[in-house]
Amino acid sequence: MARFSVKLLSYPILRGFLAQLFALAAVISINIVQGHYSGTGLPIISLLLFNGLIAAAISTFLGLPSWWLYIQVSFPFLIAASQVMALPGWIFPLALLFLIVTFWNSIGDRVPLYLSNRATGRALLKLLPENRPGRFMDLGCGPAGLLIQLAKARPDWHFTGIEASPALWLLARIRVAASGCNNIDIHLKNIWKTDVYNQDFIYCFLSPAPMPALFRQLSQRMHPGSRLVSNSFDVPGQAADEIISLKDHRDTKLHLWQI
Ligand SMILES: C[S@@+](CC[C@H](N)C(=O)[O-])C[C@H]1O[C@@H](n2cnc3c(N)ncnc32)[C@H](O)[C@@H]1O
Repeated sequence: MARFSVKLLSYPILRGFLAQLFALAAVISINIVQGHYSGTGLPIISLLLFNGLIAAAISTFLGLPSWWLYIQVSFPFLIAASQVMALPGWIFPLALLFLIVTFWNSIGDRVPLYLSNRATGRALLKLLPENRPGRFMDLGCGPAGLLIQLAKARPDWHFTGIEASPALWLLARIRVAASGCNNIDIHLKNIWKTDVYNQDFIYCFLSPAPMPALFRQLSQRMHPGSRLVSNSFDVPGQAADEIISLKDHRDTKLHLWQI
């Protein structure tokens, strides 16, 4: 039971939720005590602010990154606003369903959605050997913008996108069909269960969380001579063979390993 609780607490979203619950309990208690001594409770705006600030303080204690503080402080105000606007009840389950199917991996693998830019695509194209066809895979391809850019420039290569979020997978399939590229395949799949042996080039743009385990798995399963590029995220203890710095607004760094 204790191990199960510790595992659950490794998910930031659950720690964030727990912080809000504790903050709510604290604010209700404060309001009851205040009402007892002065005969009136605190103004609603103070209660919302206290709730947000207490949740933010608990989040810091639970080790959540600093941007969670903005979420925690604004969350009680958003709930209150939704009550004031009297939104229909079905909006909430629908919004939750949309968030789940889109940001599927933000909860499990702690990988949010952000996209590779065109400069990254151009740098990757320079890394693909000229005059020789090959196979390229994007692990966690999102809406497939990068794959479409590459596939148009290299019709002699085959491109595969792996995506676990159903909404992003569907969007990627629609975009690939609309692009007219017939050298791209998109699979609704988990990267951990993907066969990578026949790929010559694997690209990922994920987050620091999965990188050590992913590198271990890929370095055992990719074929000798293939290459792995991780956008922005290195692997502690596994120096890259090359780091390519792009002159874009993000200062993108591509970490390249020769397998
Ligand atoms: C930061 S986005 C990168 C999108 C795209 N590769 C790009 O560079 O534009 C990471 C993507 O990986 C997907 N993802 C994360 N964990 C995954 C997993 N275990 N299996 C499949 N896809 C995953 C996410 O849903 C998200 O679309």
